[in-house]
Amino acid sequence: PFPAPQARQDEAFGGSLGLTRRLRRNRKADWSRRLVRESVLTTDDLIWPLFLMDSSQARTPVAWMPGVDRLNIDEAVRQSAHAAALGIPAIAPFPFVEKSLRDPTGSEALNARNLMCRAVRAIKAEVPQIGIICDAALDPYTSHGHDGVMDGETVLNDASVHILTQQALALADAGADVIAPSDMMDGRVGAIRAALDANGFEMTQIMAYAAKYASAFYGPFRDAIGTNATLIGDKRTYQMDPANSDEAIAEVALDLDEGADMVMIKPGLPYLDIVARVKDQFRVPTFAYQVSGEYAMIVAAAQNGWLDGDKAMMESLMAFKRAGADGVLTYFAPKVAERLKAGG
Ligand code: PBG
Repeated sequence: PFPAPQARQDEAFGGSLGLTRRLRRNRKADWSRRLVRESVLTTDDLIWPLFLMDSSQARTPVAWMPGVDRLNIDEAVRQSAHAAALGIPAIAPFPFVEKSLRDPTGSEALNARNLMCRAVRAIKAEVPQIGIICDAALDPYTSHGHDGVMDGETVLNDASVHILTQQALALADAGADVIAPSDMMDGRVGAIRAALDANGFEMTQIMAYAAKYASAFYGPFRDAIGTNATLIGDKRTYQMDPANSDEAIAEVALDLDEGADMVMIKPGLPYLDIVARVKDQFRVPTFAYQVSGEYAMIVAAAQNGWLDGDKAMMESLMAFKRAGADGVLTYFAPKVAERLKAGG
């Protein structure tokens, strides 16, 4: 029937503009939007960071991250099994270390019976199909909250790398599938790669926190692992300046030369330009970390009724895919996987 009803409407307001290209045509119905969609988010894109604690209690809430709990080892095993059943490929556990176990050199990090190593062994034994990605960094273990060892006010580079290498070996020995150096010392990827190879861990992967910025968005994480009150100063002498982009390219190039199998950009959404640039330039497996502060912003706004939390969650994760990320570390992982399983 011509003219179509909307054409008659247009007529009433002065007629068609006579456009050849109308990008709205492809958006007119759900089937069409699905057909022309450029990026897809699947459960295979998700890495779930979780918090461990030594406790008889199964869970305690992280105050600054509503909906996130610290888990004891038994509960971490159960939740890892749940994540695996949902199809989440990998988890990234972080420990809340008792304050009495922290010291200036982070010596508890090298204890083969520490919380992380025991948890990794337990999860590997019960849920062998899930990948386990473990941070190499000393901040959960140091009394000053820094990722390395200090001489006065200075975080020492090479001394820290020697300790981080030992930490990586302890984690690999416990069964970590991937070592993720998050310390931002120079040369740590190469040193860890060499040590892993020399000790029979040739197949242990390295996901480098290649471009990790000195960011305010880590605040809630430091509440989760109990370093917020203890951190002396800030991390600007080793984590990157938020103003820099070329420097991220240099960091990624070095980490790849030193043997990184995958690279990560952190934080996530505020640094999407870096994600896109790194993926465009290097064409290697590239991940983004939607950090604790990004999680907290979405959840807090949703709790106030200021935005639709689920929609903001899905949109933020789709943005990572659009930017070129191969996957995302996100505290939303189980929630997203459940949603995708239910049909999006
Ligand atoms: C520690 C580490 C941090 C995060 C991951 N590993 C904190 C920091 O560098 O202070 C932050 C993760 C998050 O905020 O979700 N090396």
